[in-house]
Amino acid sequence: MGRSIKKIGVLTSGGDSPGMNAALRAVVRTCSHYRIECYGIYRGYQGLIEGDYVLLGPRTVNNIINKGGTILKSARSEEFKTKEGREKAYKALKEAKIDALILIGGDGTFTGGMYFNKEFGFPCIGIPGTIDNDIFGTDFTIGYDTALNTVVEAVDKIRDTASSHNRLFFVEVMGRDAGHIALNAGIGAGAEEILIPEEDLGLDRMLESLKRSKRSGKSSSIVIVAEGDKTGKNVFELADYVEENLPEYDVRVSVLGHMQRGGSPTCFDRVLASRLGMKAVEVALDGKTNLMVGLINNEVKTTDLEKAIKENTKINKELLKVSEVMSL
Ligand code: F6P
Repeated sequence: MGRSIKKIGVLTSGGDSPGMNAALRAVVRTCSHYRIECYGIYRGYQGLIEGDYVLLGPRTVNNIINKGGTILKSARSEEFKTKEGREKAYKALKEAKIDALILIGGDGTFTGGMYFNKEFGFPCIGIPGTIDNDIFGTDFTIGYDTALNTVVEAVDKIRDTASSHNRLFFVEVMGRDAGHIALNAGIGAGAEEILIPEEDLGLDRMLESLKRSKRSGKSSSIVIVAEGDKTGKNVFELADYVEENLPEYDVRVSVLGHMQRGGSPTCFDRVLASRLGMKAVEVALDGKTNLMVGLINNEVKTTDLEKAIKENTKINKELLKVSEVMSL
């Protein structure tokens, strides 16, 4: 293992996700294991620019494995998007004698790291932390499993009202560009229809499916809609559209919003975060850079940061069929 890396900086950036703290804990403790100093950087890239760093040790990350959010705080820094901002960040890192960065976040976080590495040759290793599961090079991002369980629990509760009042509920879930949460939580919660950004399933098809389910004796239904679904209508417009075309339905809308990003991480996310956090430090100590660590077929692997951001994560077509058949 190369020994030129003596100090590692770690930050969380972009949308928070459950398990970011568990990943931070893993990074800090792995650094301690290899006798490397670890600096936590507050508020993502903004704190990086401002030199807002704190030395972390194994005891400073006690009791955070179970906590949602990120104790390092997160931010979306406009300044880091400029060359001047990145220059300031580089100077601050040099002053603090930090040799490598570990970036916990999603595509925006990795894009920043990629530019930073290209411009200054600064070693950057990514850990995928986002509820959206939209990063190539890992089967699961940290926080996705927790978000799925949060959505399923919420929809189960909505179902109680839907069935008590014979109502149709449109439930909006997160996913501006990715339908993984909608599709998987939709199947898990037994949704009638699932609308996602990747596929235009068509409004007529949805009306037909709702008519069919009324005919077959269903008295209530749940339609899961990803924020960025392809119909071009938001969840309220969709509800109006169905009310106009199928007046027999009593329609309600529920937007789950940011409750999907919070909460204590599931065991799966904690283990994933621990595995990826440890590997990220080892990859940095090996002198590698511009890589993301991820889980592929239950093995921890690395992928180029650029590939992780630019390659698409595909929707599993089999799940579309499962959803269709199960909604009969
Ligand atoms: O964390 C990713 C995500 O949940 C997206 O699905 C969503 O569109 C976005 O964050 C919203 O985040 P914010 O409200 O922080 O801008």
